[in-house]
Amino acid sequence: MGKALFQGGATPACAICHTLADAGTSGTIGPNLDTMALDMEKVMTAINEGTGVMPSFADSLSEQQRMAIAQYVVWATQQK
Ligand code: HEC
Repeated sequence: MGKALFQGGATPACAICHTLADAGTSGTIGPNLDTMALDMEKVMTAINEGTGVMPSFADSLSEQQRMAIAQYVVWATQQK
């Protein structure tokens, strides 16, 4: 569920702005997540509050969906 949301389920999709190898995305507006050291707290803060041009997803995604994306991103960045 987190992977599908990352690739296209969220609006705007994380995929258009972020590179993440496991998800097969190559967005360059935001930082390459593969190169970052991320934990649940950092990803949830970014998703909930937004950062820079990244919007908050607090209104567009449920808590469960945000948790699923964050868990997926943390997992995916550890697959190296
Ligand atoms: C419109 C483009 C855009 C979208 C869509 C977007 N991001 Fe971002 N994201 C950014 C930018 C730009 C930054 C860096 C902001 C800064 O630090 O100036 C960022 C930063 C981050 C960070 C790093 C936070 C930190 O602690 O430094 C994470 C994690 C992240 N985004 C995850 C996501 C996830 C997950 C989604 C989808 C739910 C998403 N982003 C959607 C542009 C985007």
